[in-house]
Amino acid sequence: RHRGELRYEGKAKRVYASSHPGEYIVEYKDEATAFNAAKRGQWAGKGATNNAITAHLYPMLEAAGIPTHFLEQLSETEQRVRAVTIIPVEVIVRNVAAGSFSKRLGIEEGTELSRPVVEYCYKSDALGDPLINTDTALALGWATEAELTRVRALALEVRDFLVPFFLERGVRLIDFKLEFGKLPDGTVILADEISPDTCRFWDAASGEKMDKDRFRRDLGGVEDAYAEMLRRVTSPALG
Ligand code: C5P
Repeated sequence: RHRGELRYEGKAKRVYASSHPGEYIVEYKDEATAFNAAKRGQWAGKGATNNAITAHLYPMLEAAGIPTHFLEQLSETEQRVRAVTIIPVEVIVRNVAAGSFSKRLGIEEGTELSRPVVEYCYKSDALGDPLINTDTALALGWATEAELTRVRALALEVRDFLVPFFLERGVRLIDFKLEFGKLPDGTVILADEISPDTCRFWDAASGEKMDKDRFRRDLGGVEDAYAEMLRRVTSPALG
């Protein structure tokens, strides 16, 4: 299998056509951006770390009954995925108040939510991924009611798998962002990545941030935090 033409370039990944029909090759980049690309950075190994974390998590999600686009890790920075049409709705699942939720609602970061909160944003770099609701997505034809119902159910299934998975490795999953895509037959599957770029991870013992907030907030130690998250993800559950 080899890369064909570049199909999509995002802030952290490139998606290429593949010599194998029905597949894409995703390349993880070392670039990092925040605040709608107003803040930019990069570090060697970021792409490889996020590729490895996603390549470890997605097969476990599949085994837990969640269909994903992931097929195989090809190299340090590349993976083979099923070609999908991305639904342009970013799905955020929150377990604990943080980030834009805390800011918007005046709720202190770290406040436990009594039940998970699912939020939707319009996937648009130009607009900075604005918050929407499901009516917006329906009215603008971005997804059908059945697709949104499926997306929400799958997002909560991902949460139900990941929360205990990370806790068993000493990490609290505060919130995370997912993207879904459609196969040619209309089946909705999990796409994109799950990594320290797209999740908030707090060390369960110390509360230390182990995710992209170290970059966003200039906390230092960002490379070490990503490397530690890869180590945790690939470690057996704590006793
Ligand atoms: O910034 P906010 O609090 O809305 O982010 C919620 C979660 O979604 C965080 O884990 C963040 O990393 C992730 N996110 C993302 N891509 C975006 C917006 C948020 O991965 N465009």
